[in-house]
Amino acid sequence: MMIASDSPRCPLPMPMGWFQVLYSHELEIGDAIPVEYFEQELVVFRTEEGDAKVVDAFCPHMGAHLGYGIREQTGKGPRIVGDSIECPFHGWRWNGNGQCTHIPYAKNLPPRVAKGEAILGAWEVREINQQILVWYHPNKEASSWEPDIIPEAAANHPDWGDMIIHTWEINTHMQEMGENGVDAAHFLYVHGTDDVPEAAYQTFDGHIREGKFITRQPTPRGVVDGAIETKSQGAGLSMVKFTGIYDTLLLANVTPIAAEKARASYAFIQPRDTMDTLGKTVGQAIIGNICQQMSEDKIIWDRKQYFERPLLCDGDGPFAKFRRWFSQFLVEKTV
Ligand code: FES
Ligand SMILES: [Fe+2]
Repeated sequence: MMIASDSPRCPLPMPMGWFQVLYSHELEIGDAIPVEYFEQELVVFRTEEGDAKVVDAFCPHMGAHLGYGIREQTGKGPRIVGDSIECPFHGWRWNGNGQCTHIPYAKNLPPRVAKGEAILGAWEVREINQQILVWYHPNKEASSWEPDIIPEAAANHPDWGDMIIHTWEINTHMQEMGENGVDAAHFLYVHGTDDVPEAAYQTFDGHIREGKFITRQPTPRGVVDGAIETKSQGAGLSMVKFTGIYDTLLLANVTPIAAEKARASYAFIQPRDTMDTLGKTVGQAIIGNICQQMSEDKIIWDRKQYFERPLLCDGDGPFAKFRRWFSQFLVEKTV
């Protein structure tokens, strides 16, 4: 009998870059939500001024978890006061820069607090495209690029509808998921699509990867020419534009939870004026189809082993190029 081994299936470092931790609508003013990403516990909170902040979960005073309230806050997050999160254990307050802003009972502040030092781990945050993003680097280096603002993803856009959101937790390293985009042959076997989209171009430039595929979709009114354009920014953020039968925009973000566990957050946006007509039929069918593909890919991803040297053949697609591009995000932890 085979016994599952304890050794990792995908021995790759956690990638650095910008990653989504929440959607904006999940975090109201005064909310604090504990999350687990990058093999760490974090707390995301929204200040009374409305800014999203992300800090390490454990209070530097005596180590209480900052993400859980007690007494009248039980079952909710802790209290948010002004720009700070209040620790449920002894009431010390911390702002989004990691500085201690209040100790309710100290006559003399600890020197590091008095100096305004950043003591609690604080994360770089961007709130764009109705998403809350953080910069992760295993060695805590500062961000080296800025994520794109996507105009269509603005809240209450006049022409583009509200986001339709689907999420999955997948037991693999996210490089394995990214490889799907260059894996031409699996479409037939995993997804049952006999028509492999034809690549118009694929480019790898710095942290950006772009590609365009030409599609021909059969419909009752004949074949409709379409395209799938993708743009990835780093390991965690991708945008996919489907044109042809029904324009659909997909913000496909993936965030590592642990070495072999990742969360995929997919937000679909479709034209607002046809949401109640074509959107209900063709639009939902497009989304349903992509979600179906995710659940099919998940069966493979959840179990497959990463091979540093897979046995490839000529029809397999540009795996080596993809891996070379992805390797820039795989930084070994040295601190
Ligand atoms: S542990 Fe947070 S205030 Fe004491
Ligand atoms: Fe797939």
